[in-house]
Amino acid sequence: MNELAQIAQQIRVCTRCGLASGRTHAVPGEGPAHAEIMLIGEGPGFHEDQQGRPFVGPSGQFLTELLEQAGYRRDQVFITNVVKCRPPGNRDPLPEEIEACAHYLDQQIALINPKVIITLGRYSMARWFPGQKISAIHGKAKCVDGRIVVAMFHPAAALHQRALRGLIEEDFRRLPEIIKAAQADMQPSPPKKTSDGAGEQLSLF
Ligand code: URA
Repeated sequence: MNELAQIAQQIRVCTRCGLASGRTHAVPGEGPAHAEIMLIGEGPGFHEDQQGRPFVGPSGQFLTELLEQAGYRRDQVFITNVVKCRPPGNRDPLPEEIEACAHYLDQQIALINPKVIITLGRYSMARWFPGQKISAIHGKAKCVDGRIVVAMFHPAAALHQRALRGLIEEDFRRLPEIIKAAQADMQPSPPKKTSDGAGEQLSLF
């Protein structure tokens, strides 16, 4: 079993916080072990808790569409959450739950070593953009520890607020351009040409 799978196994039996007692399934996350893009949401909802997979409900369907609008397939990216078990009634995760789960997210980031992290919503945003407002920084990139971090609205918020839908769609459509610009700031050499043939590894750089 590889290290990522070992972490997933630890998450499935985790009892570090109270969310463990209410879950049907923990949701470690899914995607290629060396994905170049990692998306981090808030926490599993009803459907995710039932299936043990991230973003499989209505907001997940929308996220898949948003990724396609950006030119990426869902199976090319790694998708996970700040907390791996469903908060009851989909309430916001508590600071102690985020803290208890941070250990797993840290390890996932270290092992996958993505070039780009996309935060979905305020809880994952808070880790890289503390004290900032999503309305001010959505669609903007920041370089942290050699990675590009882009803050996005949460897809569920955009599903429920029509005004946000256009903004999140526009941010995702611009994602390749946002990544390219941030990458040019990080390393001045021009990016390699990539092929978009089916089944090929996503290659951003
Ligand atoms: N919302 C999230 O933040 N994560 C999921 O996995 C599903 C919905």
